[in-house]
Order: sequence, then C-alpha cells, then structure tokens
Amino acid sequence: MLTLDQTLLPHEERWIRLERWTDVAEAISTMRVRGAPLIGAAAAYGVALAAREDPSDGALDRAAATLLGTRPTAVNLRWALERTRRALGRVPEEEREAAAYHEAAAICEADVAANRSIGEHGGKLLRALAARNPDRPVRVLTHCNAGRLATVAWGTATAPVYLAHAEGLPVHVWVSETRPRSQGLLTAWELARAGVAHTVVTDSACGHLLARGEVDVCLVGTDRTTARGDVANKIGTYPKALAAREAGVPFYVAAPSSSIDWSLASGAAIPIEERDGDEVRVVGGVVDGARRSARILDRATDVANPAFDITPARLITGLITERGVALATRAALADLFPEHADASS
Ligand code: MRU
Repeated sequence: MLTLDQTLLPHEERWIRLERWTDVAEAISTMRVRGAPLIGAAAAYGVALAAREDPSDGALDRAAATLLGTRPTAVNLRWALERTRRALGRVPEEEREAAAYHEAAAICEADVAANRSIGEHGGKLLRALAARNPDRPVRVLTHCNAGRLATVAWGTATAPVYLAHAEGLPVHVWVSETRPRSQGLLTAWELARAGVAHTVVTDSACGHLLARGEVDVCLVGTDRTTARGDVANKIGTYPKALAAREAGVPFYVAAPSSSIDWSLASGAAIPIEERDGDEVRVVGGVVDGARRSARILDRATDVANPAFDITPARLITGLITERGVALATRAALADLFPEHADASS
C-alpha cells in the first residue's frame, strides 16, 4: 500500500510503501496516515496485508485488534475493520486476501462517493451564503485537516469548498493552525495546490475573527458523531463552536455516515485519545532546507495532550452527511438513516 507520509508535510512530499499490516498499524499510530476516513480505509488494507501473511481467523483477529487499538477516537477505524472482517467471515482461507482487498477498495469507493455528496449538499449552503454578500468571497473557518489528505478524495469539510471553487464561487478559508500537530498546515498545503484562497491563523485568533464578523460559516470534520449529534473532533473544535454561537455564525460539521457511532448517545461516552506529551513539548520545522526540531519545554514539565474534544449537538447548526444536511438531533439523523434508527434508540 502506497501512501503520503503526512508527518513530513508540508515541507516534503514523500510516498511510503506499507508492506505489512504492522507497517499500517505503525503509520496510523504515528499519524503518517491520519484523518478519520483515511485511517479506516488504511486499516482495511491492513487486514488484506494480514491475510496475505496468515489468513486464519486467529491471525486476522489479532491484526484487527492491534489496528483497532492504534487510534481510539475515530470510529471509522472500527467501522472499516468490522466491515472487512465481516466480509471475510465465510470466505475460505485461500481466498481471504483477495476478498479483503476487494472490501478495502469498496470502502475507498464509498468514501469518495460520500465526500462528493457532502460537497454537493454543503455547496448549496455556501451558495446561499454567497447570495447574501455577492460582492465578496464566502469566508469559511475550518479547523484541523478534514481535507483530501484525511480521506480517499475530496475531504469532508473541504469538499463543499472544492466544489464551490470549481464552479467559480469565490471562497476564502481561514485555516486554524491546530496545535500541537499543526494539521492546519496540511489544509493550507492542499488548498494552495487547489488554488483556493486561504489564510492561516493561530488557534487563539479564531474567537477574535468570529467576534469581528470576519467569518460567514464554520465547517469542520468529525472523528465520531453520536446518534444524537454530539461531535468529537480535533482538540480546539469546541471553543470555535462556542465562539460561533456567541457571534451568531452557523457551525456545520461534515459527517459521513462512516463516522457516526449509532451505539452512543452522549458525546461524554466517546473515548478521547491522550497523545504523547512531547507533541506539546517539541516543535518541528525546517531550517535551511533541513528538518529540525526544537524542545520548547523540558521533559520534566508536565503536559496534557488530549487529541480531541466534544462539541455538544446544541452548538451545531447542522451535520452535512452524504444523504443531506440534518439537524444535530437523534430524530433528524434517524430520519436520514432509518436503517440505524433501532441501534440509536
Ligand atoms: O488526529 P487527526 O489528525 O487524525 O484528526 C483529524 C480530525 O480531527 C479531522 O477533523 C477528522 O478526522 C475528520 S477528517 C475528514
């Protein structure tokens, strides 16, 4: 499996080959491969690589359990692993590798289609905002990277932006830096390649921009959305939702159904990944063309590094799914996805 090493971006574009399922597990946990939909797709290929080594039930279960443990918050990982494991259920061992590749490819295709639809539904919202202020671009605020890099194609939160841009609608994106892993720089990198106007700001600047009326809409991704519409997304999302509510700015979450956890009602039940403190203590960059890191806090300094926060449904204007835009309520989600209504009651 060939993938971009996202830990090297935006300074270096290097494709890496993941030969074994353990390489996939390492790439997900170190965030070479990151973004909820992409880690789901990668994990499905991880099962295929595991089946190549040993297609027995025991070996596949062990690989799937390890892959599942790499990132606890994004539910796409569990969704993709369960789907792939289920597809192999009654398949004879000698055919399991091919069947797993087939399922992984189907997961990728579904991701592309879902994101394209999210782009179309979200694009209508952007066009409506543009109609209100035809003399200037629609000003979108996003956080983290819910873009092409985080998915198989289009991105989730960026899909409406890319489609609107392709149609000639002027859009400007405020890109929140997203400490400590700086995924905002990934968003800036991909927006630049697509020719979409954007400005990077520190996470701390976003409340100010919202209060000053510089933002028309917030558009973010999700790692896990509960059946009643609470959203876990990258740390720093919740304060933006609070500031957006105070400023009267709509706050939308691009939420493919692969990231909805129908078994949970409250966001409080979502496991929040706590990552290594050195992500906060050490910063990286490029000096004279060479990658360098600098320690800004010594090892002895206690830090906390929760990787996600929960935005309660009440702060969310709407969830943009592949089937349309839903209010962040159990009833509205169940209406769009009636096949899951039982699991969520
Ligand atoms: O820790 P990351 O970089 O994998 O977190 C990514 C996010 O929080 C994204 O917003 C989310 O996965 C949606 S990606 C389409």
